Amino acid sequence: MSKRFYVTTAIDYVNGQPHLGHAYEKIVADVIARSRRSFGEEVFFLTGLDEHGQKVQQAAVAEGKTPQAYCDDLAAVWKAFIVRLDLSNDDFVRTTESRHKSVVQAILSKLNAEGHFYKENYRGFYSTKEETFLTDKDRRPDGTFDPSYGDVVELQEENYYFKLKDHQQWLIDFIEKNPDFIYPATRRNEVLGFLKNNILEDLCITRPANRLNWGIPIPFDPNYVTYVWFDALVNYISIPAALGDSAAGSAVNYQPSTINHPLSAWPADAHVIGKDIVKFHAVYWPIMLKAMGATLPKQIVAHGWWQKDGAKMSKTTGNVVDPIAVINEWGVDAFRFYVIRELDIGPDGNWTDEGFKARYKAELADALGNLINRSLSMLKRYRNGILPAQSNELAPDAEKVLNETRSLLEQNQLQAALQSIWSLVTRANQYVDRTAPFKLAKDPTKAARLDEVLYNLAEVCRILAVLLWPFLPGTASKIYAQLGLSGAPDKFAEARWSGLKPGHAIGTPAALFPKKET
Ligand code: MSP
Repeated sequence: MSKRFYVTTAIDYVNGQPHLGHAYEKIVADVIARSRRSFGEEVFFLTGLDEHGQKVQQAAVAEGKTPQAYCDDLAAVWKAFIVRLDLSNDDFVRTTESRHKSVVQAILSKLNAEGHFYKENYRGFYSTKEETFLTDKDRRPDGTFDPSYGDVVELQEENYYFKLKDHQQWLIDFIEKNPDFIYPATRRNEVLGFLKNNILEDLCITRPANRLNWGIPIPFDPNYVTYVWFDALVNYISIPAALGDSAAGSAVNYQPSTINHPLSAWPADAHVIGKDIVKFHAVYWPIMLKAMGATLPKQIVAHGWWQKDGAKMSKTTGNVVDPIAVINEWGVDAFRFYVIRELDIGPDGNWTDEGFKARYKAELADALGNLINRSLSMLKRYRNGILPAQSNELAPDAEKVLNETRSLLEQNQLQAALQSIWSLVTRANQYVDRTAPFKLAKDPTKAARLDEVLYNLAEVCRILAVLLWPFLPGTASKIYAQLGLSGAPDKFAEARWSGLKPGHAIGTPAALFPKKET
């Protein structure tokens, strides 16, 4: 059985409100997953929820619920959210599931038995909000801690620590030898700079159960639960292990009982995450995996953060984008298109309602929608919807875009891939304007030329459906249906010229992106 292409998103804090940032990350991962499927690869796409920790415990108490009941209610909201985004995920992990918890405990037992942990008394400062210890390095010049840490309390407690220092030089060498491990290069350089200029502090991997009990119990010491980040990162390997992946299972010392069709996915090919959690994924996670004896993921894909109207999104100021409201009004594909077209993976982005509407009108309604609609309507009107003889006038343009798009998708350049696809949309719209089929139709001596033009336009529409499928799956399927083709346009190999056969009857054209009065 061949290994599947394995792509993940970060797992979201269950008590957060699903927003634009979460939606963006999931759509990026979905486009990567769908494009690999389209290339003919088998894929395993995982997303899910991070459900443990003090904040969840406190919020549950405040609502008079048990933490599990509180998480169950919110998990339903998140699951509905990903359905609205049209995600093609293969599984959905919740860190409170026993399939995940067993693996976390198996890893803890293994690493403890192999001497990776030690217990130490610590006196210092603790941010409950971030569930992390702070040191003097975290103080601002005036000696205070940033308000983003919330209330910072001084405490003294014994905990288990994971020895990270021993692995620091190995990690530097690994990142240097594997230039694609952290994408894009700006983030890679930041991580290398950090590792070369600081001595790694060992990682506190427990919290005393008498202070926080909403966590996974430490198997070798009942007085402690697992630090939420150690728990959360493990999701990437726990789910493959639980689904019978032998590479994952042997690294984590966990074999599920009976699995009929064991998964083969580890190591992950791409962990899609935001820039704020690069250190967890590019420093702690590789060291955890190395200590377990697991193969490292191929790539950490770190995207930037969205703002709205040039300012941080914040519920308190009302400066937020509600993805569901946008999808309700404009459709999921318009939302998916805007976030990928507007923001390359890496830099920060800025959502403006005007920008969204402008792209909807110019690129979706006037460019793509109009091309499909007029091409198919003319074929219907002038040739009764029947494909004329094959003609290859636009074949070289389509071929060029096809090759370019594939190579850009393979390099995570999703924005550039959309630009490339739109170059074909523009080319075909110019072709309509230049060849003027509505004039040709009036002149019976130009019938052969009109046949050529109509074939070329219909075939470009079909190829566009295939190229667009990873990005706009609903729209791509509609184009296929309007072309009278069955099945989904989900195979990249079918984007080769001459898929439409002469004599084929198309379906009924209909507007894909209705114009709106706004
Ligand atoms: N639970 C942790 C991740 C654990 S992964 C093993 C977490 N959760 S989160 O809900 O705060 O964030 C989830 C993802 O959303 C992160 O990758 C984060 O970067 C991303 N985003 C949160 N706000 C964002 C924006 N404003 N813009 C883009 N992405 C943002 O961190």
